[in-house]
Amino acid sequence: MPPAAPSSPRPVRVAILDHTAELGGAELALLRLLEVVDRERVEPVVVLFSSGPLEERLQRVGQRVVVVPLDPRVRDMGRAVGPLSALRRAASGAAFLHRLAASLRALDVDVVHSTSLKADLLAIPVALLLRKPLVWHVHDRIAEDYLPFRTVRLLRFLARRVPHAVVVNSEATAATLPGARRPTVAYPGLSSEQVAHSGRRLQPEGGPVVGMVGRLSPTKGQLVLVRAARHVVDVRPTTRFRLVGSAAFGAADYERELRSEIGRLGLEADIDLVGFVDDPRGELEAMSVCVHASTVPEPFGQVVTEAMGWGVPVVATRGGGVDEIVRTSPRGSETGLLVDAGDEQALALAVLDVIDRPAEALARASRALADVADRFGIERSAETVTGVWEEAAL
Ligand code: GLC
Repeated sequence: MPPAAPSSPRPVRVAILDHTAELGGAELALLRLLEVVDRERVEPVVVLFSSGPLEERLQRVGQRVVVVPLDPRVRDMGRAVGPLSALRRAASGAAFLHRLAASLRALDVDVVHSTSLKADLLAIPVALLLRKPLVWHVHDRIAEDYLPFRTVRLLRFLARRVPHAVVVNSEATAATLPGARRPTVAYPGLSSEQVAHSGRRLQPEGGPVVGMVGRLSPTKGQLVLVRAARHVVDVRPTTRFRLVGSAAFGAADYERELRSEIGRLGLEADIDLVGFVDDPRGELEAMSVCVHASTVPEPFGQVVTEAMGWGVPVVATRGGGVDEIVRTSPRGSETGLLVDAGDEQALALAVLDVIDRPAEALARASRALADVADRFGIERSAETVTGVWEEAAL
């Protein structure tokens, strides 16, 4: 009798847990990853703890989504909540954990994957209860310049002991989780639609346009750019600034502060607060330079790769994942200009450098385009994460 053909193993069933359905950086990265993941190897189901735009965006690309609602008091607790009160609230969410465990059991998942800090914590009891391997996907630097001291200690402690594996979005994030189990870097990759296929961009018509893309937040540093804008406009008065992004996650005070600083500096006619834009490529297209001004080291910095992928010259603040994205070799092979966080003078000078030396800026931008297309494709991220899931499911 001929040997029976080996039956191909069933795809790994992964439940991907996220506490939010808002479109933050981690969620946009997840969307792109799920668009390209090999469904013969993985069968992902996304489990959100509330409804929101992410749910609809996932469904639009044919991704299965389940919503297990969590009491908003637990879901929306600020990052500044200490681990004890976080645990107390999680305990009061026992009913939620029960429902979550029941849903995952019904889905018959092989691996539990959590992709936000709150989901990381809530996934622990559920994965233990179901006796399934847990994979943490960490998109935040677990450091005290960003999180309360006790939260940092708790997360680092847990990362060393509890998850089967920890996926991180950069080496910089990995460095904030010393001793984490099976750390694996999966850079949030660009989809092919995010990479412009013409290597050279023309300068936009009219005066130079300086843009920034990202939600309005003190940590993203729009205020630093507004102050730098005063210097730039003094030297090159036709320059216009466009801040793309809305005040998500309760930063309405920051938006007011920005508007009042724009007024104080007399820049109302020079700076536009554009608001949220679903697809920033149109904005990128119109930019002479894209600025990234984060005041604390950015865990990764997708906007930097997006601007580079679109051929836009970049000026960014050093630190975190940005140091892994932007190449700064002194032999003329650099791919962007870096400045220190919070240094508005240096930022203004770097922006003026791009405006005043367009040939050099465009040469850097075309090197950057080739470099990010080579190193930051979403297929590579999907392959890495799929490998982690397959290994966890063994
Ligand atoms: C988070 C980080 C950001 C990163 C994104 C994707 O939003 O703050 O730096 O680019 O996740 O990993």
